[in-house]
Amino acid sequence: MKLRLSVALAASALLALTTAAVAQQPILIKFSHVVAVDTPKGKAAEYFKKLAEERTKGRVKVEVYPNSTLFKDGEEMEALQLGSVQMLAPSVAKFGPLGVREFEVFDLPYIFDSFPELHKVTEGPVGKMLFQKLESKGITGLAFWDNGFKEMSANKPLRTPDDYKGLKMRIQSSKVLGDQMKALGAIPQVMAFSEVYQALQTGVVNGTENPPSNFYTQKMNEVQKYLSMTDHGVIEYAVIVNKKFWDGLPADIRTTLEGAMKDATKFANEIAKKENDDALDAVRKTGKTEIITLTPEQKAAMKKALISVHKDNESRVGKDTLAEVYKETGFKQ
Ligand code: LMR
Repeated sequence: MKLRLSVALAASALLALTTAAVAQQPILIKFSHVVAVDTPKGKAAEYFKKLAEERTKGRVKVEVYPNSTLFKDGEEMEALQLGSVQMLAPSVAKFGPLGVREFEVFDLPYIFDSFPELHKVTEGPVGKMLFQKLESKGITGLAFWDNGFKEMSANKPLRTPDDYKGLKMRIQSSKVLGDQMKALGAIPQVMAFSEVYQALQTGVVNGTENPPSNFYTQKMNEVQKYLSMTDHGVIEYAVIVNKKFWDGLPADIRTTLEGAMKDATKFANEIAKKENDDALDAVRKTGKTEIITLTPEQKAAMKKALISVHKDNESRVGKDTLAEVYKETGFKQ
């Protein structure tokens, strides 16, 4: 009898200890992304980690996995839905394969002329509608983070639409971007970001499109002789979480994390332009890549060559979505 009592006491003490230990365990957020740390997204992810851990006094731990070290393009969305990772910040050009094609409205060539125009869309009804569409996929959208305007690169100077003819150009997994390259007579090739450097080095693709921060931090200046300042599109990110994980958080923790995300978003959007300007300077200083500034006529010719992509994808991105974005940006054909 005595033995049974002491075993029961020991067992309940052990249980209490383990429960307390588990309760002590911080809530873990694995945050995976595909770019270098020294980029707008890389820095903003680290800043979110700092704020989240500080403000929850260690009740939350954020592990950031940059440069596709945990999951790469084509893997990370499924990993998020399965709960193998809790947070991502993919480019808005990577939501088509998830079935939310409306996100590709961001990829339409020359639809944005400035960050303020972009923010009218991300912070307006379209941004809300897009996040709403993610809920049925088990994903919750938290914020939009800027990177910058995309520039075309290759090992030949790209000044006119004709210069793209027959080039194999790497793109993100977006049909709109595929149509953009086809409209220039180029051959689009969807590829994970982590594979682009090698594909350029070996000639699997001839060129690609990036904001300077991605171009420089992925060392593409080593394998691309020309960078044309086309500003033909944007890289914008949607910060997303696994819905079940997020809804399952203690309410006070979720509120604190929402505050941290708000401040990290402000930080991300404040540093984006300078990060890209500094990266462009760094590319220039390497002397390995010639930076081509297009004349207004050359830019107008690019826009003219690409405008059909809008009409061709109106039903894909949604007629109403497109009309709303045109209204908010004041886009003129
Ligand atoms: C790309 O694949 O080119 C970009 O989306 C990478 C990134 O996250 O900026």
